[in-house]
Amino acid sequence: MMNNTALNFTEILQESSTQCREFFNDRWKLYQKVLGNNYMGHREIYHVLHEFLISNWQQPFKLLDLGCGDASFIAQSLVNTSVSSYCGLDISQIAIAIARKNMRLVSCEQEFIQGDFCQVIPSLVKEEKTKFNIILSSFAFHHLNLEQKDYIFSQLKQLLLPGGVFILIDLVSQEGESRESYIPRYLKSVEKNWLQITSEEMSLVSHHMLESDYPESQKTLELLAKHNGFQKVECLYQQEDTTQLCCFYT
Ligand SMILES: C[S@@+](CC[C@H](N)C(=O)[O-])C[C@H]1O[C@@H](n2cnc3c(N)ncnc32)[C@H](O)[C@@H]1O
Repeated sequence: MMNNTALNFTEILQESSTQCREFFNDRWKLYQKVLGNNYMGHREIYHVLHEFLISNWQQPFKLLDLGCGDASFIAQSLVNTSVSSYCGLDISQIAIAIARKNMRLVSCEQEFIQGDFCQVIPSLVKEEKTKFNIILSSFAFHHLNLEQKDYIFSQLKQLLLPGGVFILIDLVSQEGESRESYIPRYLKSVEKNWLQITSEEMSLVSHHMLESDYPESQKTLELLAKHNGFQKVECLYQQEDTTQLCCFYT
């Protein structure tokens, strides 16, 4: 299923404005390299997601994607599904511009919102205009601290339609593992497995993780979900005690 249909970096650069080119900094290029080499397991994870959507969502469904990035993988997962509308939300305007192009692959209503999901989600809840069958967050939720995660879970519960599901693809820590132990463990596996990564890129990964990564354990995520009224949790994918895809049902 996973053809390399996303716009490539050169195409984007050719089409982009000066502002856009400035955005294509080392961090963005590194993330593209990570996706291209499948270092975080996107191919397997999004294959599982595609199968889940095909098997469980035959009726038209509305999907909200929190931290959609370039949407290259979700676009491929939504092909041939019953998706009726897609809303991509990201803090980066440039990521949104690329997501808009990558989502041309999928025929459904589409909307893109640029903003911080800690602010946009509560305003969507207040507006009471749209609710979703599925809310997805892929490799973005772990940037929030515990209190923010708890708050966002409470808001997502209100944004979901009856029978809806929050699908979380994210980094997770082991039970009882502190952030101080998690980060070196993850970096060790990066050093071992991300074979094309240069030493400068390794420092970027390490800097990014120290600055922004706050993964929770599976048990903590389950407690947050339960505390905010989610009824059931189902994990569909797990990789080496670092990454998982879990469904939190309303
Ligand atoms: C690691 S990328 C993941 C992109 C894509 N979902 C994927 O799985 O490949 C994280 C994305 O989340 C976005 N992001 C991080 N924090 C955010 C926030 N508070 N509000 C909106 N977007 C956010 C970033 O701009 C980035 O595009």
